[in-house]
Amino acid sequence: MKKIINDLPVYLYGNNESKTIIFVHGFPFDHTMWQTQIDEFSKDYKCVSYDIRGLGESPAGNGQFTMESFVDDLETILDELKLNRPILCGLSMGGYISLRALERMQEKFSAAILCDTRSEADNNEGKLKRAAGIKRINKEGLAPFAKEFIANCFGEVFKQNKKEGLQKIIEKSTKFNPIGVKGCLIAMLSRTDTTISLSKIKLPTLIICGEQDALTPPPVMKDMFHKINKADFVEVPNAGHMTPIENPQMVNSAIRDFLAKNKL
Ligand code: MLT
Repeated sequence: MKKIINDLPVYLYGNNESKTIIFVHGFPFDHTMWQTQIDEFSKDYKCVSYDIRGLGESPAGNGQFTMESFVDDLETILDELKLNRPILCGLSMGGYISLRALERMQEKFSAAILCDTRSEADNNEGKLKRAAGIKRINKEGLAPFAKEFIANCFGEVFKQNKKEGLQKIIEKSTKFNPIGVKGCLIAMLSRTDTTISLSKIKLPTLIICGEQDALTPPPVMKDMFHKINKADFVEVPNAGHMTPIENPQMVNSAIRDFLAKNKL
């Protein structure tokens, strides 16, 4: 079922009475990046996903986004759907949103799954890279930026074996509104550092990282894992930054084990 909440398309799957998992996608993707997880977990859970403002089918508006406004959107969805302490699952930019949401309102969740993300804010080099991305989109349009950015997100195994799948993902993202994509880049480069709050996370937390993740590599995520009290860490073989798409079997079984272990 699709609902519009605060102008955003929100998708609901599975049994309405069950415990909820809310999936927050990465950049520059949309809710469909979680399709394999939703197919699997909607058998036993209520699954909710949505398109982050500026991406997918959500409106770009004036493109003036911040990480804080993304967390406001998430909170509005939780409140409107009256979700009772869902499990929060975010990848990369979805992880930045999740980490800030945990810092701001962890009592609203029962557990967290953080995939291929980091708690540190962008350093100067990272900020300049985002700025160069915005400049490139202004000059050349969205397609060349999206093509290069997305290719870097995937590991070699996927790039070699799933050329058509990768092409489809790239084609989809190149149709997004450039204003929304640039707005997300600004929101990411201006986000706060949430590292100091990792030790305050009291929820069971699963950290998932692709072994070939070039953007948020295993050592970065292991560092996060060590700072969170009740965390588990799973390194996913044959995967880069997009673990749920690249190795869905392993990601799904890691999530399944984590949910069972914590009786969620
Ligand atoms: C993502 O997958 O959301 C992005 O790679 C995050 C980023 O660029 O920092």
